[in-house]
Amino acid sequence: MTSKPQQVQPIGVFDSGIGGLTVVRALMQRLPHENIVYFGDTARVPYGPKSPQVVREYAAQDTDFLMRHTVKMIVVACNTVSSVALEVVQKHSKVPVVGVILPGAKAAVEASSKKRIGVIGTVGTIASNAYVNAIRRLDSKATVVSQACPLFVPLAEEGLVDHKATELIAKEYLFPLKLQKIDTLVLGCTHYPILTSVIQHVFDGATALIDSGIATAEEVARVLDEHGVKNPSNQKANVQFFVSDIPHKFTEVGERFLGQKLGRVRKAEGFL
Ligand code: DGL
Repeated sequence: MTSKPQQVQPIGVFDSGIGGLTVVRALMQRLPHENIVYFGDTARVPYGPKSPQVVREYAAQDTDFLMRHTVKMIVVACNTVSSVALEVVQKHSKVPVVGVILPGAKAAVEASSKKRIGVIGTVGTIASNAYVNAIRRLDSKATVVSQACPLFVPLAEEGLVDHKATELIAKEYLFPLKLQKIDTLVLGCTHYPILTSVIQHVFDGATALIDSGIATAEEVARVLDEHGVKNPSNQKANVQFFVSDIPHKFTEVGERFLGQKLGRVRKAEGFL
């Protein structure tokens, strides 16, 4: 079968830094033959505490970078960008755009039997109310409680998964959600799937954890089909990684987030 030029073009994925590799991992599992270009804005990370105005400005530049790589679609892996700047990405790209909020919200509503849903994310994501609004639009009767967990980002990057400090901080952040008797929790930040076991422990394993990245990979597969641009190849995909800072630390920490070797990581031109 001959493939259309657009089908072999890569999917562009961007994030504020390293965390988006958890979304790439989900994409590689769900769509192993899709070529991917990843951009992590490691020179300007974190986006979570920054104002929506600044995040929008960065998101436009990140999108322009991916568009220069003739991507067939853009996946906004960063929850903060998906919360406050999805329309900026849509405006700057001429290809379909998928963010992580709606797929995560849908998966949560489907998983929750009592419709008591918790959402955790960066300060920016939680302040935007993007998840709360998306969940309520899907189910107006759902009770949604949210909590910013900013310290989870450095803890995940430091690899402090089985560590007392992480357990204490997780209890502090998550106890109010536990008191609200949520049955489902959206991991609304790229880094949080790394801390699944610690988070699960606080809820005694009784709460369903929703990985927005996995839900997003499912949505990406659907959109590729809808546009007829799924790569029909059965060859190993070409996955390229670009970052805006010098890549040294990215490779080491990134392998933990991606769950496999990263290969070559290049410094992106046009940033700093
Ligand atoms: N990637 C960000 C997110 O998912 C977390 C890291 C940051 O604050 O930039 O919101």
